[in-house]
Amino acid sequence: MLLGHEKEYLLHLPTPLEYLPSVSADLGIELYIKRDDLTPLAMGGNKLRKLEYLLKDALNKDSTLLLTVGGIQTNHGRLTCAAARKYGLKGAIAAVGDYPDEISANLLLDGMMGSDVWIRKPEEGRSEDELLDETVKKVTAQYEEDGEKVYFIPMGGSNELGALGYYECALEIASQIRGTDLEGCRLVSTVGSMGTYMGLFCAIHNENLPMHLTGISILLYDDIKQYASDYYQRVSNYLGLEKAACANDFDLVTDYDRGAYNNPCREVREAMYYMAEKEAIILDPCYTGKAFAGLLEMVKEGRIKQGEKVVFLHTGGTPGIYTPHHRIEIEKERGSFIHRI
Ligand SMILES: Cc1ncc(COP(=O)(O)O)c(C=O)c1O
Repeated sequence: MLLGHEKEYLLHLPTPLEYLPSVSADLGIELYIKRDDLTPLAMGGNKLRKLEYLLKDALNKDSTLLLTVGGIQTNHGRLTCAAARKYGLKGAIAAVGDYPDEISANLLLDGMMGSDVWIRKPEEGRSEDELLDETVKKVTAQYEEDGEKVYFIPMGGSNELGALGYYECALEIASQIRGTDLEGCRLVSTVGSMGTYMGLFCAIHNENLPMHLTGISILLYDDIKQYASDYYQRVSNYLGLEKAACANDFDLVTDYDRGAYNNPCREVREAMYYMAEKEAIILDPCYTGKAFAGLLEMVKEGRIKQGEKVVFLHTGGTPGIYTPHHRIEIEKERGSFIHRI
């Protein structure tokens, strides 16, 4: 029970906190990685921590089906379906996008778990949010007619309840670093729909945990600090948090979003190759690779100081390397490793 909320236990916690010796020596910092990619269901990732709380709420409400929204290759959708299947519920995803030429990566895993994926084509003059809302209403009505009780989970599981998963993660990291050299470290997190960052922030801020949180955005926000302040207010009201927070309390970096969500970028792939070659850890091209590429630039630019102690949160997403528009670039750049003999 955390702040009055129960959860289902999907994970084997704590996830490992590992030192990265080769990258640390190379960069001149002390770099650790928190392995939230090593969470058990359906190839793992950060969303499972949020889903422990969301699933419990769904079960308390006698739901029979979890429905969520996202991009066609949503990791969050994959893990929502995974949590649903593990508890005998149905899982469904609504997405807006062009029908993919190839069923691969997350989409393939969704199919293997027997989920429904509803894909709505983009329409000129209508926003993605509008189309998603309409699709959700339509499929919910259809499911309800078939006798299902639908529990809706918003994009990324990033509502007030979902944030608790990463509140708990910050407490977990604090207990892993307490009494070690890592007290006072910088924790670096990817920022997508912000639930992960916000959960971590709420705990660090309200429980005075010995770390500083930096979020690196991988998509475009109009005014990220305003968004964070509003989100904090909602979570704070919901969870009954004590401390107020203002825009300047949020260390959110928007310099490395590379212009769009989930776009193929050479610098991101270079960062992924670097981590794979030096530490045998696989990052993903949409989230963790982009955030790690940002971290590398922060070191180069001196925004992360030499000798600094840094924990990079690996939030998963590795199936994303098999998405055609990323995989093709990787094949082109790395194809020469195969030698015919
Ligand atoms: C692998 C991965 N990392 C990071 C994130 C970002 O988390 P959040 O949406 O909570 O900001 C996501 C969100 O989908 C994700 O799938």
